[in-house]
Amino acid sequence: MRDFENQVVVITGAGKGQGRSHALAFAQRGASVVVCDIGEQLPCASAMATMEQLEETVRLVESVGAECVGIQADTRSTADMKRLVDTAIDRFGKIDVFVANAGIAAFGPVSEMPYDVWRDVVDINLGGVATSIRAVVPHLIERGAGRIVATSSAVGREGGPNNANYAASKWGVIGFVKSLAIELAPHGITVNAFSPMSVSTDMCHNQLTYGLFRPDLDEPTRDDVKDTFAGLNPMRVPWLELSDASEAVLFLASSSARYITGAALDVAGGWNAFHSA
Ligand SMILES: NC(=O)c1ccc[n+]([C@@H]2O[C@H](COP(=O)([O-])OP(=O)(O)OC[C@H]3O[C@@H](n4cnc5c(N)ncnc54)[C@H](O)[C@@H]3O)[C@@H](O)[C@H]2O)c1
Repeated sequence: MRDFENQVVVITGAGKGQGRSHALAFAQRGASVVVCDIGEQLPCASAMATMEQLEETVRLVESVGAECVGIQADTRSTADMKRLVDTAIDRFGKIDVFVANAGIAAFGPVSEMPYDVWRDVVDINLGGVATSIRAVVPHLIERGAGRIVATSSAVGREGGPNNANYAASKWGVIGFVKSLAIELAPHGITVNAFSPMSVSTDMCHNQLTYGLFRPDLDEPTRDDVKDTFAGLNPMRVPWLELSDASEAVLFLASSSARYITGAALDVAGGWNAFHSA
């Protein structure tokens, strides 16, 4: 199916993980893709992509026959996000879909959390989503069309121990998306959140996260944490595969979702059914 033929898709945080998977999925369905990543490691955060990984994303997208441009850019920077949008418009003439995917995780109890751990997570996961989307909105309004998808999380509608910074940022994404959806609906633009449970990327598979799930073990392995992860949702799925995440994002960007806006699409094995709404 090449239902994104002649469409231009911009994705933030696509050096690896879900962003790379989304880029490939859009490309396989006919889109031209512009990707960015910060390409450097912040001290407090889960593993971030290198520029070599971003270049690999570009190579992978091109290998399926699609056009792709990758640039180093930080979603927190208004200048970088303007450059990202300008790059896409200069190269392809327009933007149809914007996926605000970039994010980081860093955990700890609020009473012990260093201020930079709080600040960096909220600045990137909420501030970066807003800054990147604000950069593309004028272009989409001018076109009178467009799709915006922002990545939230299953903890975008609940709390979690050691997770206050991350949960606050992801709740914020949903509030931002719902408000912007109302503003942009008259312009023919949809704005939705994608709310996955754990996804099988570096953000899920690392010693810090494993240690939170199995504090009784010194060096828990993937096998050690599998049941604890699965216990979070009634379908007892430990983590989503990348394709589960990309299918949901592509659905929200597709013509099938043309009248869906202001929604938060849960892909969480029913974890979301525990939320009050
Ligand atoms: N993996 C999970 O379990 C999970 C669950 C729910 C939501 N999410 C969300 O999904 C999104 C994608 O995460 P992932 O699972 O692919 O993790 P990941 O760490 O593999 O990918 C995140 C990417 O974002 C990039 N990035 C971070 N800050 C950036 C910035 N300021 N500017 C540009 N790029 C930046 C990183 O370098 C990295 O390449 C994130 O928003 C994350 O919070 C992940």
